[in-house]
Amino acid sequence: MCRFSNSLFGLKPLCAAVPSERSVRVAIIGLGYVGLPLAAAVAATGANVVGLDIDAERVNTVNAGQSPLRGREPGLAALVKGQVSKGRLRASLDPSAASGADVIAASARKALAFYRRFVNAEIHLTDWTTAEVVKTAENAYWDVQLAFANEVALISEELGVDAYRVRDLVNTCPYRMMLIPGAGVGGHCIPKDPWLLVSPAVQSKPELIPTAREVNDFMPRRMARLVEEALAASGRKVKGARVAVLGFAYRENTDDTRNSPAKTMIQELRRRGADITIHDPFARSERGYAVLRDMKAVTKGADCVAIATAHDAYRKIDLKALRRRMRHAAFVDGRNVYAGPEVVKLGFVYRGIGKGQF
Ligand SMILES: NC(=O)c1ccc[n+]([C@@H]2O[C@H](COP(=O)([O-])OP(=O)(O)OC[C@H]3O[C@@H](n4cnc5c(N)ncnc54)[C@H](O)[C@@H]3O)[C@@H](O)[C@H]2O)c1
Repeated sequence: MCRFSNSLFGLKPLCAAVPSERSVRVAIIGLGYVGLPLAAAVAATGANVVGLDIDAERVNTVNAGQSPLRGREPGLAALVKGQVSKGRLRASLDPSAASGADVIAASARKALAFYRRFVNAEIHLTDWTTAEVVKTAENAYWDVQLAFANEVALISEELGVDAYRVRDLVNTCPYRMMLIPGAGVGGHCIPKDPWLLVSPAVQSKPELIPTAREVNDFMPRRMARLVEEALAASGRKVKGARVAVLGFAYRENTDDTRNSPAKTMIQELRRRGADITIHDPFARSERGYAVLRDMKAVTKGADCVAIATAHDAYRKIDLKALRRRMRHAAFVDGRNVYAGPEVVKLGFVYRGIGKGQF
């Protein structure tokens, strides 16, 4: 069964290739989170696709019929494998491999015909500036909604209530869709698009959208403060404390670390003298951030664990064993992975974003 995630966005069923009138040659530049699924999806329509990238490892991996993306990308690995083995998808480092392609960039009419090959959803034609405003406004919309949820979380902490319970009850009212608060907002698009939207607006002096950015940027700093508070409540100063950070990716079940709020939290804690270890089941190490796969090694002798990303793996932690491995028992939950009482019952000091009762 095809479970490829882009089906959520209206791409035609990708496992059943859409027959084409002739084999169109398509060049796609960049084989990342967007380019690779797109290249494989287009190949599945019967097109002959070359994906260009500057990353040799990525090119080799794709040509070996594998997806270089870790994390949960349902159906993508099988799709890439199938299309490479059928000879419809190949990757190249050489830009001249795009020569002779029918589609790289095209007129609106040609682009429409191309997208119709594999997109089920309605395709809207509009002018260039409207399209840019729509793209950036759509992401700014999420950012503002997330900032609202995060601000309610900060208020809830101060007033001693659980923001997640507040959210559940708010959302019982018709047309309310309060989003999930948390330890920060990352990724490639949402942290940058609000700035792209407001930067050309000189006379209207936007305030709401920049303020939302500030609220969301504050969340990882709030996490660092919660770590400090949890350590203090368990009899440990942050300076010299061992803090095990669980999750380095910006979002659950992906390896994507672009603008990850975990990085800001780690920097804040290092500035206060904490000694940081980092665990992530998918993300790789980066300069200044050694990411380990072994949860036991990361948490052994820790004074505090801080959940920065709601990876599924963190919902099944053996809390008793974790408690035994740790030196002090501070537990900070930035993603509501645990309700709280079950952690406190095992002797942890628990703090969390939006958790005012602890
Ligand atoms: N990730 C999303 O959800 C999303 C959504 C909408 C739009 N976008 C936009 O799509 C674009 C790609 O995003 P992504 O998430 O796939 O990024 P990504 O970092 O996963 O992929 C980019 C790929 O391009 C390659 N690359 C960089 N410079 C190159 C060059 N000069 N020639 C050939 N290849 C090159 C990189 O090696 C990488 O493999 C970005 O502009 C992003 O803003 C992303």
